[in-house]
Amino acid sequence: MNRYSLKNKCVMVTGGSRGIGLAIAQACARAGARIALVARNPRTLRQAAATMQGRRTKVDCFSFDMAATDKLEALYRRIIRRTGGVDILVNNAGTTVRGPAETINQEDWEMVLKVNLTSCSARPHARTTVPTPPPRAAYAS
Ligand SMILES: NC(=O)c1ccc[n+]([C@@H]2O[C@H](COP(=O)([O-])OP(=O)(O)OC[C@H]3O[C@@H](n4cnc5c(N)ncnc54)[C@H](OP(=O)(O)O)[C@@H]3O)[C@@H](O)[C@H]2O)c1
Repeated sequence: MNRYSLKNKCVMVTGGSRGIGLAIAQACARAGARIALVARNPRTLRQAAATMQGRRTKVDCFSFDMAATDKLEALYRRIIRRTGGVDILVNNAGTTVRGPAETINQEDWEMVLKVNLTSCSARPHARTTVPTPPPRAAYAS
């Protein structure tokens, strides 16, 4: 048995449509996992999925803004309904607002915190109401 096989596992990757998230998703797909990709841009998501989809790899795309932390539980429910459950959660989505400090307003600051931090901590809350085993989680930030 392959020690690194992810056969029959579902890996959810936030920010999985490009960059590090996509590379993680592709590696997991190569190891046999079913993939759930989350990002905002549906077109980029579809393009990312196309790099993995094949006879043996199933990829589901979920267009979602991780700053919408009040809607996260609904997202998890949708993903679990579609995939049957998430075994590994990769909290990779991340963002920043660049510019001189005086141009960064409170709204920008809070959006960055929500995407980079709050969206990750919201998962244990969802876990209490979603009737599936909690996934293992990894964080990239
Ligand atoms: N690259 C580095 O050198 C580096 C170093 C240390 C840590 N990191 C961390 O590693 C993670 C990935 O970095 P990266 O360089 O691969 O980033 P990236 O190329 O900018 O990709 C970011 C991914 O996150 C998604 N995303 C951004 N904002 C989102 C939001 N509000 N809701 C949902 N998805 C969102 C993007 O898709 P959409 O735009 O379509 O939503 C994209 O799929 C980040 O957390 C970053 O902070 C990166």
